[in-house]
Amino acid sequence: MQPASASHGLTAAPEDEAAIPVFSRWFGSWRISLQRREMSASQLARSYDLAAPGWARTLDRLGFPDAYEAMLAAVLREDAPDLTRPGLRVLDCGVGTGALSCALARVLPAPCRLDAIDISLRMLDRARDRLGEAGLDASLRHGDVRDLPYAGGLFDLVMTGHVLEHLADPQAALREMARVLKPGGLLIACLTRRSPLGAYVQLKWRTHWVTPDQAESWLRQSGLEDVRCRSLDRRAICRQLSVACAGKKPL
Ligand SMILES: C[S@@+](CC[C@H](N)C(=O)[O-])C[C@H]1O[C@@H](n2cnc3c(N)ncnc32)[C@H](O)[C@@H]1O
Repeated sequence: MQPASASHGLTAAPEDEAAIPVFSRWFGSWRISLQRREMSASQLARSYDLAAPGWARTLDRLGFPDAYEAMLAAVLREDAPDLTRPGLRVLDCGVGTGALSCALARVLPAPCRLDAIDISLRMLDRARDRLGEAGLDASLRHGDVRDLPYAGGLFDLVMTGHVLEHLADPQAALREMARVLKPGGLLIACLTRRSPLGAYVQLKWRTHWVTPDQAESWLRQSGLEDVRCRSLDRRAICRQLSVACAGKKPL
């Protein structure tokens, strides 16, 4: 027979288990904090498999394709004008239905060589269709961004849209992304930011509730430099929901 606590899911958490902080405040001499266990890889895959059929339509309705495009144009213009040369090697980590990669293709003056990875097979099916419609010849792989199946120092640009906030240890994934970047290469991460709408996302998807300062410190602590955050300001709803943070791998 199971102990009563186990049947209610009330098991003691191992001290070293990474978790996602939800709330922490001092009340006099008491510190009250609440944390959630991250979704496991299989829970993430299952949840995004279910979300895949309507994902691109939701992003279109919220205005993310436009907001991603304006943000990428600004980052490339201001932080990395050299990254517009032909044949650029790009990796999209957690490609979803391909919105970020399609936006990049609209901004780059010449075609790039695109690789993309996702934990959800259904998302990858949709990405294949959307990237194909956009004329992008991408190499797609099924896998986890915490263990990238690519050699080190391969990519000029690594992008990741709304993935890191799902992970109890986002810096481990960022270090992995930095590993596959060429020295001098650029990483661009979009994250759900702390806001009333972000709170809804946090409850539904068990995500971190990230401030721009925190996003910058995650990138810096993962070994990136020249780190800078920008809002996604083409649409008010995207500005409230997301922040983009870019940094370079040192030469
Ligand atoms: C919020 S969606 C964003 C999709 C896309 N980047 C965009 O901006 O529209 C997050 C995506 O990351 C994928 N994902 C989540 N955790 C992942 C992980 N550990 N490894 C790879 N992909 C992951 C999900 O399957 C999903 O497609």
